[in-house]
Amino acid sequence: MSETSQTTSQTEGRDLAPTPEFAEQANGKAELYDAAAADFEGFWAEQSRERISWSKDFDQTLDWSGAPFAKWFVGGELNASYNCVDRHVDAGNGDRVAIHFEGEGGDTRTITYAELQRDVAKAANALESLGVSKGDRVAIYLPMIPEAVAAMLACARIGAPHSVVFGGFSADALRTRIADAEAKLVITADGQFRRGKTAPLKPAVDAAVDGESTVEKVLVVQRTKDDVDWNDDRDVWWHDVVDSASDQHEAVAHDSEHPLFILYTSGTTGKPKGIFHTTGGYLTQAAYTNSVVHDVHPETDVYWCTADIGWVTGHSYIVYGPLANGATQVIYEGTPDTPHQGRWWEIVQKYGVTILYTAPTAIRTFMKWGDDIPAKFDLSSLRLLGSVGEPINPEAWLWYRKNIGGGSAPIVDTWWQTETGGIMISPLPGVTELEPGSAQKPIPGISAEILDDEGQPFTEAEKVGYLVLTKPWPGMLRGIWGDEERYKETYWSRFGEKYYFAGDGAKYDEKGNIWLLGRVDDVMNVSGHRLSTAEIESALVSHPTVAEAAVVGASDETTGQAVVAFVILRGGAEDHGDETVQELRNHVAKEIGPIAKPRSIMVVSELPKTRSGKIMRRLLRDVAENREVGDVTTLADSSVMNLIKEGMSAGK
Ligand code: WT7
Repeated sequence: MSETSQTTSQTEGRDLAPTPEFAEQANGKAELYDAAAADFEGFWAEQSRERISWSKDFDQTLDWSGAPFAKWFVGGELNASYNCVDRHVDAGNGDRVAIHFEGEGGDTRTITYAELQRDVAKAANALESLGVSKGDRVAIYLPMIPEAVAAMLACARIGAPHSVVFGGFSADALRTRIADAEAKLVITADGQFRRGKTAPLKPAVDAAVDGESTVEKVLVVQRTKDDVDWNDDRDVWWHDVVDSASDQHEAVAHDSEHPLFILYTSGTTGKPKGIFHTTGGYLTQAAYTNSVVHDVHPETDVYWCTADIGWVTGHSYIVYGPLANGATQVIYEGTPDTPHQGRWWEIVQKYGVTILYTAPTAIRTFMKWGDDIPAKFDLSSLRLLGSVGEPINPEAWLWYRKNIGGGSAPIVDTWWQTETGGIMISPLPGVTELEPGSAQKPIPGISAEILDDEGQPFTEAEKVGYLVLTKPWPGMLRGIWGDEERYKETYWSRFGEKYYFAGDGAKYDEKGNIWLLGRVDDVMNVSGHRLSTAEIESALVSHPTVAEAAVVGASDETTGQAVVAFVILRGGAEDHGDETVQELRNHVAKEIGPIAKPRSIMVVSELPKTRSGKIMRRLLRDVAENREVGDVTTLADSSVMNLIKEGMSAGK
């Protein structure tokens, strides 16, 4: 654990306590901490009954007898899609805007809850007509368009777990995910708008389902109108089957523990993990956190989470949380610099966005682009800012508050994971005195500790240890799809079965705030996206010229970490310098997706290994970050590092 962040004193004298006006109106009150501490299960039962419409009430809040496999709200029945859509219409809020959609090219759509209800009902009917029924898995590979939301909710309505695959993933990555979940149907689009151009999506699906596949039908949204190859037996246009479907669809209630979705994420091995979430507990935590942390007031707020629905942030804080709460939100399709670097701020101004939830990598990019860009727009509607995905350095925090938050908006730095389903550690904006750079404290209902190498909890300040969660929580993963053992081994064995091992380093400061210090395993965090070193290594060695590869995450000013690869070429393969490097980078993009492309690749003749043959990534990270190379005494051959460094200074 080499990364330590500095506890900052640059915040002294700044106004970091909530203003009385903010505290007064905030959803999250201090009493919640006491209530949760006094009666943990009672607290969650109350949150759930208050926020969720149960068709059949649950009779047990938590069943932990099969630990580490949890059951929440046992015996209860609900429909997530009903909760996110229909009940708002039933309550008389059908005319409220659910989604302000802003396409990259400037096309817009305003969708009310009543319209969303019809869209979801039509999509659910269409899916059923295509043979999808309860329990079938549906893969979704779509851009950020309203159909993505309707597709997810239609799956939830039927009880068909969705597996959303980020549109930036390659055909190969999509194929693996489809195969692992045994998806029966894929929902995709002809393409998407990226940086003012169209980028195809359907060809990747064609390649991913070519040959032997569990996929029977491919449902295609027409977005770009580019030409696509068409398989008459398999492919169906969304506008043909969804638009003509009935807008009436009964939302049958499902068991609280019915699977809601699978979402693949990178782990320490090459094979992505299908993190699997169920309905009642997940929805409860998504709605609760969106209310108490994002402080969403559905009647008055315009909320914008800039994530992609391909990631868990999009699942919990674009689809399930805000919609369960009946919020009005903005969805933007494109990139922040199209057609100009002020695009986000123009959107904030246009829709009067009040709550903005984004990632540190975006904030650092805006810092680089310059203060004058946001300054050109009226951002005074913003009253709360959020951050997620990686630690936010105090400089970026302060810039965000000053340049986007008018110098006074609270910032919630929210720590959580695909596995946790919802926010776990974060300030409550109406209660907590903020500490820039720290996610601070577990929210009410959540319990965390920091353990030392021996697994002992400690509370000393500035000592670095491992973050663990000490109690089950409603939104927790229910397992890894199809792999119970891997679930137990990954999360519940490092410190015994009492502790959920998050994989993050952490420390306390003098005030007892928790600081997250980055991953302690072989997982990298690039622009808030999780990438596995092993997965990229195996992509590299699948290239015919590569004999061996080692990948490390090197710190990067903008993206947090960047992928740096060291490769040994096969005997006979010649090193053509830049050309070789480019070819390998493109190969990784093809195998996994452009997000996994190494920032740099160094061709070396040896890799540093221990006597037992384990690659010492720590030393490679030293090289990648231009540091003095650390202790080499455990290397099998200590001259290797000299060879690598010489090779690099020779311009290789
Ligand atoms: C990993 C989870 C949570 C949704 C997006 C990422 C890192 C996330 C923070 C934060 C420090 C953070 C952790 C975590 N992380 N949020 N506020 N401060 N680190 O989800 O892809 O499952 O990644 O992201 O390392 O383990 P994910």
